[in-house]
Amino acid sequence: MAATGTEIPPPMQLMQMMMGFMVTKAVSSAAKLGIADQLAKGPTYYTDIAKAVKCEEKAVHRLLRALTSVGVFAEPKPGTFALTPVSEFLRKDHPGSLRAMAEMITTPSHWLPWGKLEETLKDGVSCAEKVLGGNVFDYYKRNPAEGEIFAAAMSSFSSLTGSAVAEAYDFKRFKKIVDVGGGHGFLLATVLQSAPSAKGVLYDLPEVVKDAGPLLKAVKDRVEIKSGSFFDSVPEGGDCYLLKHIIHDWDDARCTIILKNIRKAMAPGGKVAVVEILMPEVVRSDVSFLMDMNMLAMTPGGCERTEFRFAELFKGAGLKLSSITPTMSPVSVIEAVAV
Ligand SMILES: C[S@@+](CC[C@H](N)C(=O)[O-])C[C@H]1O[C@@H](n2cnc3c(N)ncnc32)[C@H](O)[C@@H]1O
Repeated sequence: MAATGTEIPPPMQLMQMMMGFMVTKAVSSAAKLGIADQLAKGPTYYTDIAKAVKCEEKAVHRLLRALTSVGVFAEPKPGTFALTPVSEFLRKDHPGSLRAMAEMITTPSHWLPWGKLEETLKDGVSCAEKVLGGNVFDYYKRNPAEGEIFAAAMSSFSSLTGSAVAEAYDFKRFKKIVDVGGGHGFLLATVLQSAPSAKGVLYDLPEVVKDAGPLLKAVKDRVEIKSGSFFDSVPEGGDCYLLKHIIHDWDDARCTIILKNIRKAMAPGGKVAVVEILMPEVVRSDVSFLMDMNMLAMTPGGCERTEFRFAELFKGAGLKLSSITPTMSPVSVIEAVAV
């Protein structure tokens, strides 16, 4: 096929793909240094940026140029850099900030297992346990500073999806919403704001919920914080059990334990609302396929699932798939009820 004027030749497409990790690390470093927060004050000369973030001037200039070349920043005058609509989302104070996610994506918890992807591909078992000395959640327990960044990253991703979930799925009908593995409670707070008469329970590991207060401020009178492992039990009596990005972390056997614990604890007529990226049955351009690779690299048997696989999973836990609600974000609400 003859190349059109705008078509990128295949070897260049491949080069761009191969250099993708450089973009990832450059964005992540800019996020960690807080460069977008500096630029929020207005276009700034690179030496002043370097001074503010305590880095070497020429190196920072090169980072800014590289990120400008891919659209993250702009250079309105030679040497002066500014935010673009993309880097607005790297600001800490942006309501949809992805800064924590950008920082987290290259912390050792992710960078090390991805660096050994071939080992994972050999036997299909994530080498995260080997390189991190335990599963990723145990690793965060031993490395609390990194665990904090992960929890903040999850909240920042929820800022992208939380209101879309609250708008698409009717939470008003529930009396008690239990967010299982709810992290710092960003989603629960968002959902409770759309369901003013519901009470909420935030449930996660003790080392995670201890930092949950600030995000729940707006709904604190309606929220109870509980800690424990969802492999042992979950809080009782909810009529809605929210599970956002929990099921994709685990293999079918472990998901079944979690779902059975919910089945046991839920109020009669209750719903399980799984919030995940639903994988299409047929490959197409869709974020779920790369997310699935992330689960392969990072988690003990976790994966993204199709509608069919969710239905099978629910069946094994005494539940049945009752509805799928797409949202204006990449995630859907996959609902199950007791059989
Ligand atoms: C991928 S994060 C999702 C967090 C949150 N639901 C969200 O979407 O932002 C997985 C969550 O599961 C929690 N988790 C992992 N193992 C757990 C366990 N055994 N019991 C309870 N929570 C656990 C983690 O602490 C983390 O908050």
